[in-house]
Amino acid sequence: MISERPPIQIRSAELIGALSHALDLTEGQPRGHCSRVCWMGMKLGKAINMPRYELSDLYYTLLLKDLGCSSNAARICQLYLTDDLKFKADFKTIDGSLSQALRFVLSHTGLESSMLDRIRAIVNIMKNGGEISRDLIEARCHRGADIARQMGFSDNVADAIQNLDEHWDGSGKPEGKVRREIPVGSQVALLAQVADVFFISQGQEAAIKEVSLRSGTWFDADLVEVFLGMSQLDEFWELLKSDDLEQRIMTLEPEEHIRLADQDYLDRVAKGFAMVVDSKSPFTAGHSERVAVFADLIAEKMGYEPSRRRWLRRAGLLHDLGKLAISNQILDKPSRLTEAEYAVVRTHPRISGEILAGIPAFKDIVPMAAGHHERLDGKGYPFGLYGEQISLDTRIITMADVFDSLSADRPYRKAMPIEQVLQIISKDLGKAFDERCFEALIKALQQTNLKAA
Ligand SMILES: [Fe+2]
Ligand SMILES: [Fe+2]
Repeated sequence: MISERPPIQIRSAELIGALSHALDLTEGQPRGHCSRVCWMGMKLGKAINMPRYELSDLYYTLLLKDLGCSSNAARICQLYLTDDLKFKADFKTIDGSLSQALRFVLSHTGLESSMLDRIRAIVNIMKNGGEISRDLIEARCHRGADIARQMGFSDNVADAIQNLDEHWDGSGKPEGKVRREIPVGSQVALLAQVADVFFISQGQEAAIKEVSLRSGTWFDADLVEVFLGMSQLDEFWELLKSDDLEQRIMTLEPEEHIRLADQDYLDRVAKGFAMVVDSKSPFTAGHSERVAVFADLIAEKMGYEPSRRRWLRRAGLLHDLGKLAISNQILDKPSRLTEAEYAVVRTHPRISGEILAGIPAFKDIVPMAAGHHERLDGKGYPFGLYGEQISLDTRIITMADVFDSLSADRPYRKAMPIEQVLQIISKDLGKAFDERCFEALIKALQQTNLKAA
């Protein structure tokens, strides 16, 4: 049973740190990428004497730099006929030179497609490559900045996220800004990102070498000098692999600027991450937000208190967080999924639950997110729970989810009329879905005129 909590002291850093793992998944990065970037970036920010209020913004820029990452995933799959997660991870390792870019395109485009489709895609990228990558980066940067603003972060944080891919010498994207036109937060975040990608994939020496090679081109030579000074110490790298890195990151937020999360803040963060999830695929645009609305309407009709409905809305917003770990090659596939692909899809509620379990403030919504594809007869996934093992709260999320999924376009079929959706759901009452939730949904639809009375 969920109840409104007293105003407890939840640190924003704890919440955002845990949710940043969802962004790591979307970027195809090993868990903890954003945390490691935060650690390195804060060390760098302090070493260049950034004022403490700027360090506070830098802290959240580093954790949230990839907020817009899901917005170009579908387009990457479509253009490059490839797995967006692997593409994104590998793309971070190239330096933007023409020879590396060409090699990257040839080795990543349409590897599993027919020869004709592959050639068509490669020719398109060769012809329009500059514009394509600018558009992809622009979509990502703008969306990231928008979501940061919606979550209540300052313009400094939003601007730093927006300019993440600009380079010191003007060779970056999307605007080709140069030198001091680029916010310091963006410069620090990009340097730390490059260092971590190479550190995790190839080790400490490779990270140092790669950052040095980009001195004066991607990065300000002075900033690189400071980084090289810090990187001589072995403990700098050892800490990045330590088990308590998450805890240590909490200590890096400037004390006098520590942000606490009240109930409104929890709502804004849930909404922001719902936007990340919903941006991933054109077929799920707005899905999480609608599930939150339908869950709320159903709960209202079932007599839930406003404070409990608030938690159901948050569960609706975050239930599909785990989809960020799934390639759009599967999510947007226009034909039937293979058994192996379907097995991947079935992992997403478990991943949603695992990410949310890292946030004590959200522990009540873990069962709802992890259990939204369970069925009363035990034939659901991922755990095969049945009957009373599935709480009423979870059943409400399930009803809201299936109703929205059936009434929206899918890669393999068009949206169904509401009457047909309700008919399909009614056939599974008692087997998959709870009858009381269904009745409440009908009442809510009648009241909102979505369905003819
Ligand atoms: Fe789902
Ligand atoms: Fe869903």
